[in-house]
Amino acid sequence: MRRRVIAGNWKMYKTLADTRAFFSSFLPLVAASKHCDIVVAPPFTALSTAVDAAKASSVAIAGQNVSWSKEGAFTGEVSAPMLAEAGCRYVIIGHSERRQLFRETDDNVAKKTLIALEAGLTPIVCLGETQEDRDAGLAEEVLSRQFNGGPGALTPEEFSRMLTPEEFSRILIAYEPVWAIGTGRTATPEIAAEAHRLLRRCAGEKFSVRHASALRILYGGSVKPDNIHGLMAQEELDGALVGGASLDPKSFAALVNFE
Ligand code: PGA
Repeated sequence: MRRRVIAGNWKMYKTLADTRAFFSSFLPLVAASKHCDIVVAPPFTALSTAVDAAKASSVAIAGQNVSWSKEGAFTGEVSAPMLAEAGCRYVIIGHSERRQLFRETDDNVAKKTLIALEAGLTPIVCLGETQEDRDAGLAEEVLSRQFNGGPGALTPEEFSRMLTPEEFSRILIAYEPVWAIGTGRTATPEIAAEAHRLLRRCAGEKFSVRHASALRILYGGSVKPDNIHGLMAQEELDGALVGGASLDPKSFAALVNFE
């Protein structure tokens, strides 16, 4: 059995005061929730406030991005050791907004995944096809390419430093079809499950069937309290990465406590 993960991505929302207010409403609502891992990804400026607010709880904090370098002259970037030092345990990598608006490539995603693992962080590697890809029948091709060029590239043949199977098992994958993000158009549970099966197959080919079956794959894209039941009824879905509905403590708690 793979343990579920419910992760919230706040994107570029919430001040420090908003962050404190969120945790004081949210934590009591999930205090008894032991059935899944709970993750919140605030903006960089609110990380230490969030870490502090969540420290007596089981809620883990994530960065929304990370540099592929450990340190250096990279104005505006934040490194994996810095995130770990700030108290983060997870980091989101390769979100479609970063791929589309900030030109992140699969190669960036591979490097970031490796450096995050080396810093002890759990990477949440996002991938997903656009509407045009799906309409053109290219969804599978795009997903395989993003998997194989990202975390799947971290094999002996294709990368200077390979992932150990144990490291690979720590990675979380988030299937987030771009057409479902922030649009209210959630993927049907069947579409999501089909994509997850494909990604698991890719992982099996690159690593091993055993590692693929342990791999946790989250779905993201307009997950709301009224559609999470249908999605999580698919055994391929090991949790959710939530944008809009993670901003409100009551709706995010409803997602954590959906069972
Ligand atoms: P959404 O965002 O839930 O608002 O669609 C998901 C995401 O971007 O991770």
